[in-house]
Amino acid sequence: MKKYAVVGTGGRGLESYIVPMVENYGDCVDLVAVCDINGKRAKYVSEHIGREVPAYTDFDQMLKDHKPDVVLVTTKDCFHEKYIVKALEFGCDVISEKPMTTTAEMCARIIETEKKTGHKVTVTFNMRFMNFFVRLKELINEGLLGDILSIHFEWLLDTSHGASYFRRWHSVRENSGSLLIHKSTHHFDLINWLIDDEPVKVNAFGTRRFYGAGVREERGERCLTCQHKKTCEYYMNIETEDQGRMKKMFLDCEDEDGYIRDRCVFSDEIDIEDSVSVNVKYAKGAVMSYSLTAHSPYECMKLVINGSKGRMEADTAFGKENFKFYNREGECINLDRTHVKPLPGGHGGADPALRDNLFRGYSSDPLHQMADTRAGAMSIGIGIAANKSMLEDRAVYLSEFLGDFYPELKK
Ligand SMILES: NC(=O)c1ccc[n+]([C@@H]2O[C@H](COP(=O)([O-])OP(=O)(O)OC[C@H]3O[C@@H](n4cnc5c(N)ncnc54)[C@H](O)[C@@H]3O)[C@@H](O)[C@H]2O)c1
Repeated sequence: MKKYAVVGTGGRGLESYIVPMVENYGDCVDLVAVCDINGKRAKYVSEHIGREVPAYTDFDQMLKDHKPDVVLVTTKDCFHEKYIVKALEFGCDVISEKPMTTTAEMCARIIETEKKTGHKVTVTFNMRFMNFFVRLKELINEGLLGDILSIHFEWLLDTSHGASYFRRWHSVRENSGSLLIHKSTHHFDLINWLIDDEPVKVNAFGTRRFYGAGVREERGERCLTCQHKKTCEYYMNIETEDQGRMKKMFLDCEDEDGYIRDRCVFSDEIDIEDSVSVNVKYAKGAVMSYSLTAHSPYECMKLVINGSKGRMEADTAFGKENFKFYNREGECINLDRTHVKPLPGGHGGADPALRDNLFRGYSSDPLHQMADTRAGAMSIGIGIAANKSMLEDRAVYLSEFLGDFYPELKK
C-alpha cells in the first residue's frame, strides 16, 4: 500500500481526493498526512472525514515525519511548482492538479527536477476521462476525420460559474496565470490530446469588460458585508453556501491567512481577462481558433474539428451532449451515441475514473489519458504564450521557452 500526503486542503483537495481516498481507496491508499498554509483548514480535514489525520503547515516537516511515496498537490496554482519540486527532490512521485504551474520559469524547474531525480509527475486532466470526450477521441483515433486540418473551439462559462473565478484568488494573475492558464489548460490539453498534436505558435487577444474595477458603482469589498447584497445578482451567502461547508472551510479560517472566499466580483484587485481569443498553429499543420467567455448567459462548449474526410461538430448546449459528422459529400452521418452520457461522480464521472487510474493503477492506457509533464507543459504552454502575446503584441513560439527541453518544437 502506498503512502500519500496531500498539500492544499481547499475544495478540490478535500472533496475530490481526501474524502474519496478515505472512503473508497482504503485498500490501496494510506493517507498519512495533509498540509495547508492555513492550519485551521488543514485541521478541518479530520473533522470532515471523521478520522484523525496529521495536519501540517510546514511541508518539509510533513515529508520528514511521514516519508510519503506520493505527494498530491492541490494548492492554489502558483504554488504547485514549489511543492512538486520539493517532493521530487525528497524522493516522492507527484500527482499535481492542473495547471501544472503558471509560468515558463516554474515549468522549466519542474521538467528539470523530474529529469534529475527520476521521480514522476502526473498531471490530472479529468476532462480526458469524460465519456463524451472519450467517445470523440475514439472516433478520431479510428480515422473518422482523416488528417486534422483545423479546429474551432468555444468555451462558455455562465455568470454563476464564470463569476466564481472572479471572487477568489484566480482573479489575480500572479496566483493563477489568468484564466488562460487556470481554466484554459483543460481546453488546450483536451485539443492537444484529441488531435494528438503539439502547439507551435500562438497569437492572442483578451479583454475584461464584464467583471472587475470600473464596471459597476454599487460594489463592496465582499458579499458578507456588502450594502448592495439585496440587489446584486452576484451575491453569495458564505454563511449558508454549500450547506455551511463554505463557512467552516473559509470564513471561520480567515484569521489565519486572510483568504476571502466571497470577494466582490467588481474588485479593484482583479487583473485577468474575462474574454479571450487565441489562435494556435500545431506541429502537424492544423490551426485552431479558441475563445473563452466567462460571462455567457448559458454554460456550453462548442467544438468543430475539420479533417480531410469531413467535419465533426460537437456541443453541450443546454446540458445535452450532441455531436454530428458531415462527410465530404455534405451528408450528416449518425454516429453511435451510446456511452456519451455523463456518469455519476464529479465532472460527469470523470473524477472517479481518473481516481481509479491514479490510485489503483492502470495496466494499459490505450487512449493515453494519464498525462505527464510534457502534456502539462504543452497545455500551459499555449496559455503562457497567449499571455506573452497579449503583453508584447506579437505571435509567440512555444520553442521560446520550451525549446531547451523539447528541441523538436522548432519554429
Ligand atoms: N480538475 C478540476 O476539475 C479542478 C477543479 C477545481 C480545482 N482544481 C485545481 O485544484 C487546485 C485547488 O483549487 P481549489 O478549488 O481547491 O481552491 P481552494 O481555494 O478551495 O483551495 C486552495 C487551497 O490551497 C491552499 N494554499 C494556498 N497557498 C498555499 C501554500 N503556499 N501552501 C499550501 N497551501 C496553500 C489554500 O489555503 C487552500 O486551502 C487548483 O490548482 C485548481 O486549479 C481542479
